[in-house]
Amino acid sequence: MAVPVNEPDSSRFYVTTPIYYVNGTPHIGHAYTTILADVLTRYHRLFGKATWFLTGTDEHGLKVQEAAEAAGMEPKAYCDGMVGRFMELWEQLGIRYDRFIRTTDPDHVAYVQEVLQDLFDRGEIYSAPYQGWYCVPDERFWTEKDIEDGNCPDCGRTVIELEEENYFFRMGKYREWLIEHINANPGFIHPDSRRNEVLGFLKKDLGDLCISRPKSRLAWGITLPFDSDYVTYVWFDALINYVTATLELEAPSPEEGWWPADLHLIGKDIITTHCVYWPTMLKAAGLPLPARIAAHGWWLVDEEKMSKSRGNVVRPLDLATRYGVDPFRYFLMRDMTVGLDRSFSEVDMIQRYNSDLANDLGNAVNRVTKMIGRYSDGVIAAPGAAGGEEEREIEALARRTVESTRSLVETLAINQVIEEILGLVRAVNRYLEVRAPWNLAKDESGAELLATTLYTSAEALRIAGVLLGPVMPTRTGDLLRQLGASPESEGGYDALTSWGGLEPGDPVPGGEGLFPRLELPEDLQV
Ligand code: MSP
Repeated sequence: MAVPVNEPDSSRFYVTTPIYYVNGTPHIGHAYTTILADVLTRYHRLFGKATWFLTGTDEHGLKVQEAAEAAGMEPKAYCDGMVGRFMELWEQLGIRYDRFIRTTDPDHVAYVQEVLQDLFDRGEIYSAPYQGWYCVPDERFWTEKDIEDGNCPDCGRTVIELEEENYFFRMGKYREWLIEHINANPGFIHPDSRRNEVLGFLKKDLGDLCISRPKSRLAWGITLPFDSDYVTYVWFDALINYVTATLELEAPSPEEGWWPADLHLIGKDIITTHCVYWPTMLKAAGLPLPARIAAHGWWLVDEEKMSKSRGNVVRPLDLATRYGVDPFRYFLMRDMTVGLDRSFSEVDMIQRYNSDLANDLGNAVNRVTKMIGRYSDGVIAAPGAAGGEEEREIEALARRTVESTRSLVETLAINQVIEEILGLVRAVNRYLEVRAPWNLAKDESGAELLATTLYTSAEALRIAGVLLGPVMPTRTGDLLRQLGASPESEGGYDALTSWGGLEPGDPVPGGEGLFPRLELPEDLQV
């Protein structure tokens, strides 16, 4: 099937998450990647682009086969039972993807077979004996020099020696080409440290890639179209999902398709597969490469990796239930710098909530809506001529924040986007202290400046609310309603964020505190 291709441009945004192993339990790491994709999609939509957001599950492989056997089920039925946990969690976390792809979906199976047949017909796949050390839990072959004291260099578990006939993809011959591509496209791998890591990896000889498993050992996979005794090995099948999902999509415009993706979001653990295997596979298939692959770091707990055996796995739903979906999303986006590791702590999360959301944002909205209620009969008053430097500064800061949001989103610096928006909110709180509307309200001579002050603060907060929308869609909807602004994001970024959106005479309903202060739960107090 011909893939409708698009030159990467700025009119549409196609983002993917890794497809998660269906037998894993969704944790904060999975939630982080998927929320990040959701936030980026919402920003790009706000910027006026056509967007497409893909996530899903990776369902083939030995571990699933074994788990299904242990449960006395067919693998597909087992997967059907597991996949809902991811879908439900994404629903509960306010994630709005466009397609949830499963590697067992018939269109995916068909397309993987089509790619395999094409590569085989053109000599890009060949069969050869394969001897290696095999890590069963990781489903990975290692060479003699890779293994460490008879153990898997990745997970440390014992490997077994295996020799068998297999199929290989001629990956090695693309090494030079890939190095050139990476050097010629500095934005291809993000951040730079990861690009250097990949270039370092490519300094060594790049072997061919074993892409099959005999059915005698692994039956649960996509059958090779040219040899029905074999299935394709999970990564080959998994990566292709990113293209499958675009095949039947309505094109964003008559001139363009959805492939290549604008952004693959991945964790640092799957860089080699995405930055080496995947580009070479695409090259061999004659398809263009994604514009960018961004690898984020790990969420750790007490500086350590999360694991079931350590019993320190952080469950996203527990936190979202305890503290609210939007505050949870806010924390993950605010406290992680894309690319670096970050230790998760519930205490940090509560402190972040109290300082940014309760003290700064919630307090500002509460103060301003209450004062409009008290001093202006609950309606927006027209700003008067009085006013000066202070007002111009707030307005200028709002404009700068609108611009920097757009440019920082392009560089994936969501934590900085948030920090800038909160900078605007804090400036409003300081401005209120300077103008002291409660004093201006004391006599008639202050009326004009009072109106200006209330308008300026409410309007700056409205803009902050629009800008934070992708991170906290529900709470910012409430925020905008409290200010009497529309929570609908129609109208385009420039229109929604230009100064003067609040109409004099409109009611400002106010309402419940948006972010009530949190106390540290007893079990977290030291
Ligand atoms: N199925 C493969 C991906 C195939 S993509 C074509 C896979 N699945 S996974 O279930 O193990 O999830 C992988 C992703 O989960 C990681 O790349 C990363 O995005 C995320 N994370 C898993 N643990 C993580 C943390 N502790 N912290 C942050 N993200 C991590 O690999």
